[in-house]
Amino acid sequence: MVTLYRVGVVKVREGAPIVAVDGGMSDNIRPMLYGARYRVAFASPPRDDGPVRVRIVGRHCESGDVLAPDAELPGVPRPGDLLAFAATGAYTYSMASAYNRVGRPAVVGVVDGRARLWLRREDAADLDRLEVAWDPGRRVAPPPGVEVRPARPADAEGFLGVYREAVAEERYLRSERVLRTVREARRLLRHPVTDERACFVAVEGGRVVGWIQVVREPHPVVRHVATFGMAVARDRRRRGVGSALLSEALRWARDRGVSKVELSVYPDNRAALALYRRFGFVEEGRLSGHSREPSGYRDEILMGVWLQGER
Ligand SMILES: CC(C)(COP(=O)(O)OP(=O)(O)OC[C@H]1O[C@@H](n2cnc3c(N)ncnc32)[C@H](O)[C@@H]1OP(=O)(O)O)[C@@H](O)C(=O)NCCC(=O)NCCS
Repeated sequence: MVTLYRVGVVKVREGAPIVAVDGGMSDNIRPMLYGARYRVAFASPPRDDGPVRVRIVGRHCESGDVLAPDAELPGVPRPGDLLAFAATGAYTYSMASAYNRVGRPAVVGVVDGRARLWLRREDAADLDRLEVAWDPGRRVAPPPGVEVRPARPADAEGFLGVYREAVAEERYLRSERVLRTVREARRLLRHPVTDERACFVAVEGGRVVGWIQVVREPHPVVRHVATFGMAVARDRRRRGVGSALLSEALRWARDRGVSKVELSVYPDNRAALALYRRFGFVEEGRLSGHSREPSGYRDEILMGVWLQGER
């Protein structure tokens, strides 16, 4: 068994250069646990600027996260290089952990010079699956000065403003979903909370600073499912407005007998992914190149949460 690491950062200072790699004590605890030593070699084209002893450390920011205290190499590695640790042993994988939510690595078997994936890399969705879902009845209070309530026709302009602002960022919302006119938005907000849909807004000093719209699927086969979209004004993010809106939408869903809430989100929308995970959403799949935006094809991640523990 050989373990491959990619070099992230190299610090050259007095004494042995320090080489930080993309794994560490989570995938190989043996050096830390009982001082296991390894022979290390370049797996990418070797640097050969002169033999050197380097200290190879992991990514976990722990004082003991050292994979090789004084590995001998023909030159100082650079970021992006691959290093191979020889004979890391079959038990190393079973001792691996998901420490710091860094998933276990993939295991690739090589037979007669041909490589095959034996175990895939553990990803965030694998780890999320063990988490107990958010209590959908719990209400998250908005930040001081902000009220979360059902939308009204008079909110149409503010609602549309936040919508358009988020679409204009060109990263988060599908542009084809934009409502066109205030009149259209006013019509939508005439009946903000029904058995089929709900639209809540967050209002601060008379200004709409966020909205969420949750809609139940109409077809009988999927009537137990609702989907939603949301946005918070750019200058009002990261204050708990999104959480308050989402908790309100989940309460509506639970109260109307919806069993599952789902959505799709772009993979680079870190804020939304983090928010949804916090509420118990787990990744259920990835739609490859599903959106065709002016910037090109974009994947979408499907996420869902089961309410009321049903399935
Ligand atoms: C996603 C969005 C609605 C979040 O709204 P928000 O009001 O900023 O969310 P909150 O303040 O309630 O954040 C709740 C948690 O989400 C996570 N989060 C929010 N923004 C984050 C960010 N920029 N980076 C990392 N985590 C973030 C954090 O865990 C945060 O909790 P914390 O602040 O205690 O760490 C907002 O960023 C937004 O409108 N984005 C553009 C539109 C959009 O992406 N809509 C969703 C499309 S699927």
